[in-house]
Amino acid sequence: MYRSHTCGQLNSSKIGNEVTLSGWVQKIRNKGFMIWVDLRDRYGITQLIFDEERSSEDLMKKAATLGREFVIQVKGEVIERESKNPNIATGEIEVLVKDLDILNASLTPPFTIEDETDGGEDLRMKHRYLDIRRNPVKNKLVFRHKVGMQVRNFLSNQGFIEVETPYLIKSTPEGARDFVVPSRMNEGQFYALPQSPQTFKQLLMVGGMDKYFQIVKCFRDEDLRADRQPEFTQIDCEMAFVEQEDILNIFEGLTRHLLKEINNVDVDTFPRMTYDEAMRKYGNDKPDIRFGMEFAELNDIAKNKGFNVFDQQELVVGIAVPGAAAYTRKQIDALISWVKRPQIGANGLVWAKYNEDASLKSSVDKFYSQEDLQEWAKATGANPGDLILVMAGDAGKTRSQLSALRMHLGNELGLRKADEFAPLWVIDFPLLEWDEETERYHAMHHPFTSPKVEDIPLLETDPGKVRANAYDLVLNGNEIGGGSIRIHDKETQSKMFSHLGFTEEEAKEQFGFLMNAFQYGAPPHGGIAFGFDRLTAILGGQETIRDFIAFPKNNAGRDVMIDAPSKLDEEQLKELSLKLNIE
Ligand code: AMO
Repeated sequence: MYRSHTCGQLNSSKIGNEVTLSGWVQKIRNKGFMIWVDLRDRYGITQLIFDEERSSEDLMKKAATLGREFVIQVKGEVIERESKNPNIATGEIEVLVKDLDILNASLTPPFTIEDETDGGEDLRMKHRYLDIRRNPVKNKLVFRHKVGMQVRNFLSNQGFIEVETPYLIKSTPEGARDFVVPSRMNEGQFYALPQSPQTFKQLLMVGGMDKYFQIVKCFRDEDLRADRQPEFTQIDCEMAFVEQEDILNIFEGLTRHLLKEINNVDVDTFPRMTYDEAMRKYGNDKPDIRFGMEFAELNDIAKNKGFNVFDQQELVVGIAVPGAAAYTRKQIDALISWVKRPQIGANGLVWAKYNEDASLKSSVDKFYSQEDLQEWAKATGANPGDLILVMAGDAGKTRSQLSALRMHLGNELGLRKADEFAPLWVIDFPLLEWDEETERYHAMHHPFTSPKVEDIPLLETDPGKVRANAYDLVLNGNEIGGGSIRIHDKETQSKMFSHLGFTEEEAKEQFGFLMNAFQYGAPPHGGIAFGFDRLTAILGGQETIRDFIAFPKNNAGRDVMIDAPSKLDEEQLKELSLKLNIE
């Protein structure tokens, strides 16, 4: 038996007991006549004591050879500690060691295995198994497990069945590039790893599975960001015989359940906002509605006043920043430089301070009277003490620039509180999106999404205006899930492929299996997929998903610990009938 208790379990009720513990050496304090060792495992830390007066000479010698991260087993007696530590569960006791077994020695770890470590990101990623020993990393993995269990409990109780779908498949378009896998047995042919199980879950509906879910890996070859990994996990769901309303209700239920069970938060309202409204009010299809600063369009009141920077522009739009009238010139200049950075790309920023005495002072006083500026204040909802910031330009770009500034200020002013949760459904997404590069329409969600019936005639006349039965679930300014009601008949699906620029042959080659299936009694169906990593991170009060993944990739898509991706040797390439075109 390696252990009778864990290192987080013993307390004063066990004083006098003989126990066996196993774990890692966290810390050693050697006073010669007495040696204290902090022994750590997943559950906590227990202090061990070796004492010249009570332990044998051999045992003292052996204890003196211990180093950090050695794996040991000890047998001993639980005794009361002289100087107690109220900060840990085992702080009232220590174990007087009678027997020490060194199970494995350890090299000195390259960084300290403490909550606050001295190791940099790269070093820790390279030795991720050591990083996982640290509480901040370990706790996030435990947290992820809890979220996963709650998801499974809830969905299973609602009658959903978890079904696994294959990883070696054919391209499923979700807007990213595929990762591909060469097939040895089918020379010159490749599988694609799923960007999502989308087509399979639809086939399960044709198969009568009715309510499906799967916590499943997805693979997308796309540029990485804090909230994106090349392989990530979805809570993927699909239901038959449902309308959009049914799906929104069930998954509002799941989200409420998670917030209650995991965060002990009761959400009262679960608002819905159309895509158009989100873009107009927040410049963004995933607005963080925990704070205000809603956009006010100022075209009518700010144009044609002699300030020609505004006059020529499609949109003049502003926000009121609470309490920021006190910003210094330097602070305002910093904001101007921030929006002018290439990542944001704005031309500039006009400001107006709404002073506490209700007077207004702006960077464009030459062109606007106090009355004009009062109009700005009214439109943006500014109160005395607020700072009005205004941008102008092409509508789409300006909204997205002002949205970035709004989020930046939300962070800077501490308005994005990690323990506050504001979910939001964004609905009525456009079906299609114009792509400048390829000069054609792309499916905004994916090609299987159903248009709104009343908008179908627009497909012929004004495709960009067609709305879809598509929805996103947004939590605190992050898209945590997205889904749609699907097309379930062959004709509409063929029409959709043709609008997306597929020839009949291409559609048949890529998606013939789905359209065939639709001819055998496909039920009406729809679904959603949550980003499990993202959801977990946000419930955990963070926005970087990497910390919630046991073995994540770095920003270049590399696993630096196992050093992947890596080259194949000649033999393997030959076996796969592959010839590389590079040096
Ligand atoms: P979608 O592409 O919106 O929909 O993906 C669903 C959710 O998955 C998360 N997500 C990611 N998380 C981490 N890293 C990534 N690279 C990444 N990409 C997406 C997001 C997103 O909201 N098949 C459809 C769902 C459906 O229609 O039912 C789909 O995959 O949180």
